[in-house]
Amino acid sequence: MTVSLPTLDTARLILRPFELRDAPRVQTLAGAREIAEMTGNIPHPYPDGAAEEWIGEHANEWRRGDAAIFAMVQCETNELIGAIGLTIHSQHRRAELGYWLGVPFWNQGYTTEAARAVLRFAFETLNLNRVHAAHFARNPASGRVMQKSGMTYEGTLRQHFLRWDRLEDLVYYGILESEWQRKTNL
Ligand SMILES: CC(C)(COP(=O)(O)OP(=O)(O)OC[C@H]1O[C@@H](n2cnc3c(N)ncnc32)[C@H](O)[C@@H]1OP(=O)(O)O)[C@@H](O)C(=O)NCCC(=O)NCCS
Repeated sequence: MTVSLPTLDTARLILRPFELRDAPRVQTLAGAREIAEMTGNIPHPYPDGAAEEWIGEHANEWRRGDAAIFAMVQCETNELIGAIGLTIHSQHRRAELGYWLGVPFWNQGYTTEAARAVLRFAFETLNLNRVHAAHFARNPASGRVMQKSGMTYEGTLRQHFLRWDRLEDLVYYGILESEWQRKTNL
């Protein structure tokens, strides 16, 4: 693994490591209830200091080979608009993809664009064999991102996750390196 997390470029985005100075923006964007209610681990309200703590772990997680977390930055404005990352399980050559995007930027294809670049990074740079992702059944927009990124529906785990006193069905998607190769060779 390279020493520091690289920066990835897409048509409209720069995917770069988070910096501590991003913390206030993370607190504002990830602090929206619409984000927290669709994710398993983002606190709401988003406490002071939590973004600094989260960002502060990234470099170590990358160095240990446990995670690769990118800030999504709009090329045009240089504004941070969201986060996307891989939780890596290198002993199985797989990772879990996760993401959130600031509400003002929804439904413009940004997360799909970022997810495709992160999948390429997972297979071509990290040499992983499989990437999977899961969304709450009541969050079809996230399912669309997975579909549009070339992932295949693998099943639904019923009432698998307790979030805010509600038992959530989790919908799983995955893509293998061999499928990724076929899709990019089309
Ligand atoms: C999920 C999320 C990251 C999507 O980001 P995004 O940049 O808006 O995604 P994209 O624009 O690439 O794609 C969204 C797709 O969902 C579709 N969509 C949006 N709302 C939908 C709904 N209620 N039902 C069905 N499809 C919906 C859009 O039409 C689009 O599909 P299309 O291109 O076929 O029209 C963003 O909504 C978000 O941050 N949500 C809260 C946090 C979250 O859910 N994180 C993921 C947890 S698994």
